Amino acid sequence: MNESVKQERFQIIPPPYRIKVVELLSKEQMDIADNRQKREEAIKKAGYNTFLLKEDQVYIDLLTDSGTNAMSDNQWAGMMLGDEAYAGSKNFYNLEKAVREIYGYKYLVPTHQGRAAEHIMSQILIKPGDSVPNNMYFTTRRVHQELAGATWVDVSIDEAHDPQSWHPFKGNVDLEKLEALIQEVGPEKIPYMSLEANVNMAGGQPFSMENLTALRALCSKHEIPIMLDGTRLVENAYFIQRRETGHEKKSVRQIAREICSYTDGVTVSGKKDALVNIGGFLACNDKKLFVEARAMVVVFEGLHTYGGLAGRDMEAMARGIYEMVQDRHVAARVNQVEYLGHLLLQARVPVVVPIGGHAVFLDARRFLPHIPQERYPSQALSAALYLESGIRGMERGMVSSGRDPATGEERKPRLELVRLAIPRRGYTHTDMDFVAQAIIRLYRMRKRISGLKMVYETERLRFFQARFRPAGGRLTG
Ligand code: F0G
Repeated sequence: MNESVKQERFQIIPPPYRIKVVELLSKEQMDIADNRQKREEAIKKAGYNTFLLKEDQVYIDLLTDSGTNAMSDNQWAGMMLGDEAYAGSKNFYNLEKAVREIYGYKYLVPTHQGRAAEHIMSQILIKPGDSVPNNMYFTTRRVHQELAGATWVDVSIDEAHDPQSWHPFKGNVDLEKLEALIQEVGPEKIPYMSLEANVNMAGGQPFSMENLTALRALCSKHEIPIMLDGTRLVENAYFIQRRETGHEKKSVRQIAREICSYTDGVTVSGKKDALVNIGGFLACNDKKLFVEARAMVVVFEGLHTYGGLAGRDMEAMARGIYEMVQDRHVAARVNQVEYLGHLLLQARVPVVVPIGGHAVFLDARRFLPHIPQERYPSQALSAALYLESGIRGMERGMVSSGRDPATGEERKPRLELVRLAIPRRGYTHTDMDFVAQAIIRLYRMRKRISGLKMVYETERLRFFQARFRPAGGRLTG
C-alpha cells in the first residue's frame, strides 16, 4: 500500500470557484518582496521568530491555515444575517443544525476557537494523575491536558515520526502501545483517548477507517471514550476516500460522518476545515458532559448560545460546514498543497512524505544536516526562508515541542520541520510556483545557513514568543 501512494501521478484539480474580490497587498508588503535589507532588519527585530513579524513585513504568508481562509459569497451573505441577540440567537440554531447534520453529534457548545473547547473538555474529563493517550500531539491539546493534571502519552505509530516513510495513514494509533498503557495505568486512569484527524504535527497525515474501527473496539472494551480533534476532519476523510479500499465510492460527507460515529465527542477549531476566520466548538453525545460544558462555557466564553462568538460568526461557520464537505472543494484544496509538494519533490528538496492535507513540511534535519538539534535547525530554516524570500512559514520542531513539565528539560522530537501551511481558497498556483522557486534557491545555498541560540522563552507554548540570535553572528553567511 505504501508504494501505491508513492507512485501516484500528480494531476491538477482546478478549484470549484472563481475569484470575485481580492485583498490588495500593501506598499510595505511589496517593498518587503523586493528588498532583502528590509527583511534582514525585520527578522532581526522579530528575534528570528516568524511569529513576531508584522503582517506588513510578510510577502506570502504560509504561517498557518488557521483563520486565514477566504470565505465564500454565501458565507459573507450569512454575515449580514447575524442575529446579535445575547440569548438564543437564530444563528446558534443554524450552527447546531449544521453540526448535527454533518458531524452527527447530539449536543453543541460553541466556543470562540478550538483551544477554548479543549480547555473546557480537559477540565471536565481529566483528574490529576490521569494519562491521556494521543496520536502524536497538538500544542494546545497537550497543554490543556497537562494543565488539567494529566500526563500526555504518545500512542502514534512509529512511521508518524519518520518523515521519509510513505505510510498512507501516518495518523494511525498503534494499538499495542495503547494496550500497554491500559495495562500499565489501568483504564480508570485514562479519561479518554485523544484522537486527532489528519495529524498536524506529523505533517497533515490521516488515520484509516480500519484503524479507527479497531481503536473503537479496544476503547469500548475498556470503556474509554474517544474524543476526536476534528479540526481537519474533512481532509482526513478525503484521504480515506482516495486511499482506503472500500471507501472510494463514498462521499467525503459520508466518510466524515462515519468517522464521527465511532467517537464520543469532538473539539473543533472552525478556523481550518470550516472555512471561517474565527470560531470553534465542542460537540458530544453524552448528556452529562454536555451539561457540565454548558455550565463552564458561561464562565470562560459567554452564554451557551454564543460561546464567545458574534451571531454572524456562527452563521459563517454554519455555512462553512456545509461547504467544507463538498467533494470537489476538498479535492482541489488538498491538490493545491500537493502541487507545491510535487514541485519540491521533483527538485529533491527534503519534505515530509506523503504530502499532507494542509501544508508542506520541509525536513530541517535533512535540509540542514550541519546544524545540531540544540541549535534549532527548524527555527533557523524558517527564519532563513523569510530572510531570502519574504515567505513566512513556522517552526515545528524542538521549539514547538517545549519542555517536559516534570523535569524542565527540553523535549527533543524526532521531527524537525518547517511548516508551510496553505490557507484555503487564498492563494493561486502562481503563488505556489513562486514559493517552490524560492525554496529551491534556498536549498542550493543551504550550507550558508547557521544555527540559533534561544535568548528568551515563555513557560508554555514558547514557540509563539521565543527570541533567538544567530549562533555564528549571521543567519546566512
Ligand atoms: N487542534 C489542531 C489540530 C490545531 O491545528 C489547532 C490549531 C487547534 C486544535 C487549536 O485551535 O487555534 O482555534 O484554538 N492550529 C493552528 C495551526 C494554530 O496553525 O495549526 P485554535
